[in-house]
Amino acid sequence: MKLVVSTLALAAACTSFVAAEPFPAGGVSTFPASARFKRNSYIVEFHDNVADTHVNKVRSLDNIVVDHHYNGVFNGMSVRVDDSVRPEHLAGINGVKRVYPNRIHTLTTRAGDKNITSSCLHTMTGVTTAWEQLGLTGKGISIGIVDSGVDYMHPELGGCFKGPNCPWQSGEDFVGDDTPSDDPNAPVKPNATPLEQCNGHGTHVAGILMGRGELVRGVAPDATYGMYRIFGCPKEGVAGGTSDDVIIKAMLAAHRDGHHILNLSLGGLGWDDSPTAAVASKLAAQGMVVVAAAGNEGEDGLLSVGAPAIGKGVLSVGSVDNWYVTGGPVNVATSHGTRTIQKWQSDKPASAFVFDAATPIVAVVDTKGSPSACAPVSQNLAGKIALVQSGECTEEEQALAVHKAGAVGVLIVNGDKAPSDPTVSAEVEIGVAVIRKQDGEFIAAGLGQGPVTITAPSHLYNTFKGETGGQMSSFSSYGPSPQLGMGAQVSAPGGNIWSTVPRAIGAYKSMSGTSMATPYAAGVLALLKQGRPDLTPAELGQALMASSRPVTDVRTGLPVTPFQSGAGLINIVSALKSRALVSPPFIAINDTAYETHPGGNPAVAQHTITITNSDKTRPAQLLTYHQMADSVTMFKPDGSLYVAATDKASVVTWPPAKQAVPPGTQPGATCKGCVQTIAPGASATISVRIARPTALPESGRWFYGGFLSFQLQWTDDKAASSYVVPYSGYNGNFRDIPVLPPATTNPLAFVDKEGSPITDVASLVVSAAEPVKVSYSLTMHTRKVAAILVNAAGEAAGFLPGGCSTDVGRNLPSAGPTSVEVNGQVSADCEGTQVADVTPGKYRVRVMALKLFGNLDTQSDYESLDSEEFTIA
Ligand SMILES: *[C@@H]1O[C@H](CO)[C@@H](O)[C@H](O)[C@H]1NC(C)=O
Ligand SMILES: *[C@@H]1O[C@H](CO)[C@@H](O)[C@H](O)[C@H]1NC(C)=O
Repeated sequence: MKLVVSTLALAAACTSFVAAEPFPAGGVSTFPASARFKRNSYIVEFHDNVADTHVNKVRSLDNIVVDHHYNGVFNGMSVRVDDSVRPEHLAGINGVKRVYPNRIHTLTTRAGDKNITSSCLHTMTGVTTAWEQLGLTGKGISIGIVDSGVDYMHPELGGCFKGPNCPWQSGEDFVGDDTPSDDPNAPVKPNATPLEQCNGHGTHVAGILMGRGELVRGVAPDATYGMYRIFGCPKEGVAGGTSDDVIIKAMLAAHRDGHHILNLSLGGLGWDDSPTAAVASKLAAQGMVVVAAAGNEGEDGLLSVGAPAIGKGVLSVGSVDNWYVTGGPVNVATSHGTRTIQKWQSDKPASAFVFDAATPIVAVVDTKGSPSACAPVSQNLAGKIALVQSGECTEEEQALAVHKAGAVGVLIVNGDKAPSDPTVSAEVEIGVAVIRKQDGEFIAAGLGQGPVTITAPSHLYNTFKGETGGQMSSFSSYGPSPQLGMGAQVSAPGGNIWSTVPRAIGAYKSMSGTSMATPYAAGVLALLKQGRPDLTPAELGQALMASSRPVTDVRTGLPVTPFQSGAGLINIVSALKSRALVSPPFIAINDTAYETHPGGNPAVAQHTITITNSDKTRPAQLLTYHQMADSVTMFKPDGSLYVAATDKASVVTWPPAKQAVPPGTQPGATCKGCVQTIAPGASATISVRIARPTALPESGRWFYGGFLSFQLQWTDDKAASSYVVPYSGYNGNFRDIPVLPPATTNPLAFVDKEGSPITDVASLVVSAAEPVKVSYSLTMHTRKVAAILVNAAGEAAGFLPGGCSTDVGRNLPSAGPTSVEVNGQVSADCEGTQVADVTPGKYRVRVMALKLFGNLDTQSDYESLDSEEFTIA
């Protein structure tokens, strides 16, 4: 009898599992610590169709008093509890959607709030709790940072380098201040210390990790640090860069100096055997926790994750936008009221938007009648701030035009896209800032009724509610890796992060990037290592992943694809509490062709997950849940790519909006062993089968994913703990995705010496004196691409010099195509040796690229594209 009952229970639980019920238990909302709350009082929100048994479970908890019941649009109750009941306990109960602290609202507004970073940022990830309730600040942990140096004399960053009690115990400058040169023989003049006085990236990263002052509080302020400087100063027009050799040197120096955690955030697409990825993997194998930025190329679509981030054993980090945005305020005073608004301003000191005294503002109409300064301005703007709409010309042009008319500053009202910092040159000598559309409308309405004045104090900072707080940052790169690995593994706050920059360039700034998310995650790992010395380096990363919380896509209501968010937003409190190890921490399914095509492996959809109950005395009851995530593609039905600039987004989701999803259009999951009791210290094996989204057409080239959630209830615990394992796969045959663009789009373009396009290729005559360039864009990554010359008989004449590369990332739209010179010479091999002139005659350029998963030595695994025929003289 007993057996039958347990089989039935198993079947029932597995059915609800297949039905993809949302996570049954919710999370806890936290607000800035600056907000005030009723002590031990919470609002509990239930799922809409919650069963009475779940509601009663909350109601019948010991030590709880229900104050109010809410029904209808909001299903929940307000409760009072005693100290023994944490909000996490409530959130862990089935049917609870969310638990909110009971916030007290007052009518006063606060400007220039201090401790901005700590109060507003660190509640998102539980870091505030780790400091305040658990006393974890990174003490005893050592973190190496490979970056652009640090202004360690900044008052928030220690004010010292090496020496007793200094947070900076190690570090080195590998590059000096010069912008790196292409010339490998150029002298390198490193400074004695990794002091940063330009750039700002490294100092910003340092503030996120270890800020310990009034305005910036880092995640792990009491850890010790080393800075390994690999970026010099950018020059006007030359982006700062660095090279693999320098990076590797810096990484190894950080290892030599004995850091526990290495924070790496370097760009560059590539393969997991690229050198930096390989070094990162080695360091990880040696027990160093290596954290790397996923990349900031999310707006370029899928397959945009960076190289070190996909190294084995490396924890790659995507970015979530901060709930709050900090910056200098603009105070607007009109006859019908005042408003404090947010500004996006230039980072050049000469064009900083700072007005300590009240300054009048006027709306500008240029001589063409537009509300902008794209044409000359005839108004007299002497001593005034100009209000203009973002127009058809650049911010620089508008600023110069109103300056000519006497203006002392310009506020540019943004159009419909998200506001960003204006880019102006050093020639602009008046304050320039961009403001939101609705704030521009407020000023314009005020001007309709009388004079309006503006102040923008220099040393005041305000915190504004971010419009995209808690969502994935649009710039956060997507996987998969070239081998169909996932991409980011976890996400951390990285959008709109307020931190330090060198004093020489302003001391404080809000910046965004997975470069900000990476040190954040590194700091959280330091707290975790301090709080859980029992975990091995690999287990630290696993615990962080398993305790993350999937990020919701507000447009679809489903979790964001794991290809972008990994396991979700990290949470230190959940990670510290974890008493189970889940392995593997994520499932990269590969493509579905592997399952069904001849020669494929039908077992590919079958996955074994091991859960170890690390509690040595208590058994844990396991329940398993499945939640599908958005499916995503970057391909239009005709096979071309969505482009952010013209199609609004380069990644399209299924479903496109909040809607019921037809059966088969999303992945499903079934499992064996999904309900069981795990004995103290024992491991349980669960076998999960992920069903592909069969009703999504393979021609749509969809990447799908979801989350398995394992709820463990230990005897005597008030609430279950949840552990998450993301999975990701490709619906179709990955190797069938063309690597080269369709021939119908004329993908091989010629330009002359001056860079002008050549339209009449048939009459083109190329010589050593009159070389041209041919360019192409790879749609997908490739192991090998070669541009060769083919003669009139169709025979290969050799490789174009510099036209052969291996392990190449796809050409992201923002980076542009690859160009290769055609000058009448070819080389005999891919390495570019034995260069010789070709016999004059008719030739074509042929670009050949290896298909994904193709074999380097198999001719038929290459795709090719031919140009029109032209003449080599
Ligand atoms: C800011 O935080 C620091 C560190 O916790 C604290 O010592 C300081 O008093 C805080 N400042 C303000 C203005 O709250
Ligand atoms: C997917 O399969 C291909 C082809 O066998 C392999 O090269 C690749 O490493 C696999 N990817 C993953 C993530 O397992």
